[in-house]
Amino acid sequence: MRKWNFCAGPAVISEDVLQEVKSELLEFNNAGASIMEISHRSKIYSSVAEEAKNDFIEILNIPDNYDVLFLQGGATHQFSMVPYNFGNTSKEADYILSGTWSKKAIAEASKIIKVNTIASSEGKNFTYAPDSNDWNISQNASYVHYCPNETIQGVAYHQIPNINKPLIADASSVILSEPLDVNKFSLIYAGAQKNIGPAGLTIVIIDRDFMEYGNQDIPNILKYSEHSSSDSMLNTPPTFAWYMAGKVFKWIKKSGGLGHFKAQNHKKASKLYEFIDNSSFYSNNVDIDNRSIMNVPFLLADDNLDKIFLTEAEDNELLNLKGHRSVGGMRASIYNAMPLEGVNQLIDFMKVFEAKYG
Ligand SMILES: Cc1ncc(COP(=O)(O)O)c(C=O)c1O
Repeated sequence: MRKWNFCAGPAVISEDVLQEVKSELLEFNNAGASIMEISHRSKIYSSVAEEAKNDFIEILNIPDNYDVLFLQGGATHQFSMVPYNFGNTSKEADYILSGTWSKKAIAEASKIIKVNTIASSEGKNFTYAPDSNDWNISQNASYVHYCPNETIQGVAYHQIPNINKPLIADASSVILSEPLDVNKFSLIYAGAQKNIGPAGLTIVIIDRDFMEYGNQDIPNILKYSEHSSSDSMLNTPPTFAWYMAGKVFKWIKKSGGLGHFKAQNHKKASKLYEFIDNSSFYSNNVDIDNRSIMNVPFLLADDNLDKIFLTEAEDNELLNLKGHRSVGGMRASIYNAMPLEGVNQLIDFMKVFEAKYG
């Protein structure tokens, strides 16, 4: 029996998608084999790959001057690919430190180039996102990197920073949650295992002109231009994850596109934050303007109750609510495939729990 899954990633996938995948699992499209068992260069697979890419471009309204890459390695791989490719001009880049993932990106980039951490909320435990109007951008920076949605702290930027340097975003936990003006970015990367599909795939949206500036003296596997000129088939791509992402894109289109998900996601998040704010038992300490619509961390008034909360939540069909081990407490990740009904059930359970133990 499927339950409500609030995991931060790998995360919930729509049951419609899973059913469709199940129905064609043994044999795909008269191939005599499953999609996992055929060559990525076959005609059948190529059309699956191309359709997924085109649907992604359509959903996000990505202009022709961008390419979209379907890569392996996760967002973590991007922490190194980005500075290897684009740190070559000045060997220097600006990074914003707003949570655990941007911290990891900084640590990796620092091994390759000089990193200027031009804004940080670490002093306040990552409870807000440093205002982009206050970013003091370095003259020599090749690019500016930030994480619009910090999955662990539940801290988000709701406006795209307006800067006159190439802007690079780790959008792993926020991509496809609402429409996005891709034009404002030089590069966006996102691990798939939240709103895109299963783990193993990373999508990169890259400005073609910017890509040409990239360092050519690095191994091909790290080079964006090489992945682009080989249509993301420089080596064997994560074929099953790419195929499944294509199914998710069709489901997004059928459901009403990103406008629909934006409305639904804001509704889910507002309901949950409103409930937390009106309770004296639960709390969320992120600045209201920077609260994530995808990942909602919250604390109980008494952390001795954490274990009991998680056990009783599971008994009530609510899974994976444990906060990240680095911050403790709880976290409800409410990606596209989590319906309002699941959030309502969580709130109902939280009310009962508070009445019992509060
Ligand atoms: C914002 C963000 N960046 C990077 C990562 C790392 O992704 P991966 O495990 O795919 O390398 C995650 C994983 O949850 C994430 O949420």
